[in-house]
Parts: sequence; structure tokens; C-alpha cells
Amino acid sequence: MTGIDLLMEEHRALEAMLDALEAATKRVRDGENVPAGAIEEIFNFCKRFTDGCHHVNEEQILFPALAAHGLTPDMTPMTVLAAQHESGRAFLEDLQNAYARLVAGDDSVRKEVHVLAREYAGMLREHIAIEDHYFRSPAAQALTPAEDERLQTAILECARGGGPCGRRDFLDLATRHRNAVATW
Ligand SMILES: [Fe+2]
Ligand SMILES: [Fe+2]
Repeated sequence: MTGIDLLMEEHRALEAMLDALEAATKRVRDGENVPAGAIEEIFNFCKRFTDGCHHVNEEQILFPALAAHGLTPDMTPMTVLAAQHESGRAFLEDLQNAYARLVAGDDSVRKEVHVLAREYAGMLREHIAIEDHYFRSPAAQALTPAEDERLQTAILECARGGGPCGRRDFLDLATRHRNAVATW
């Protein structure tokens, strides 16, 4: 697998967790039970893996390399994608704050939790679709072996978010959530 392949593999895991987040918060909105700890696991994934590793590796390693290989010299697409990472962090924070209010006993935020989750998931799904497109571009195919190795190493170490976070564990967690939601 190339570094690009690894990032695309992570995209499929991210999508599984976004599906799980939407499904779980829909149950929250409707007053139905959600398996204990499921939403906390999804938040942890989004914060530590999506934000802490995946987005950081794109911003710090891949995007500059794509720009160097001609995906517009002014990096406009990369600037937009990086801004979406920032928006994702802000959405996630709002969502976690709303969910914390629910856990603290404020039943009035059930709908807000689901709306915020839907906005977060929708924005990131569009973001991922754009990236999948760019990741198949000629610029992405033009990465040198050294650039690809640097990208792969960072992805597999999964350590840029402040310490190793077990990439395989996060991918397995996404598979578990995908399977669990399929039974709901
Ligand atoms: Fe991204
Ligand atoms: Fe991505």
C-alpha cells in the first residue's frame, strides 16, 4: 500500500464512524437507548484519530507534497481542505459540549445533539469525497518514493496527535461500529 492508499483506507473507517455517529445520535434524539460507551468511543475516535492523526498527516505531509507536484501552485484546494479540518474540530467541540449537557441531565438538548452530529458528519463526508478525488489526481500519483515513505511512516506511526494511538485499533473500532450499526 502507498501512503495515499493508507489515507483512503482511513477514509473508509472515518465514514463508518460518521455513519455510526449519525445513527447513535438519531437514537438519542428519539429517546432510544444507545449501547453504553458507544458515543464516547466515537468522540474519542474523531478527536484522537481523525483530528489527531489523519488530518495532521494530510496537512503537514501530503498537502505540501501535492502542491509541489502541481495541484495548483497557490495551494488553493489544500487551503480549503485544511480550513474544513478546522471547521470539523469546531463542530466536534460544539457536539461534545451539547452531549455533555445531555449526560449532565439536560434532556432538552437531544435534538440539538443529533442536528450537530448530522452537520459534522455531512461536512466531513463532503470533505472526504473531495479528497478522494484529489488523491487520484496526477499530482498524487507523482509522489516520489521518499515522499511516499515519509507519508507512510507518519501514518503507520500514527503518533502526531501527541503519542502513539494504535492505528490498527482505531480501524478495528470502526469495523466494530459499522457492524453494530448494521444490526440496529
Ligand atoms: Fe482531510
Ligand atoms: Fe482525509
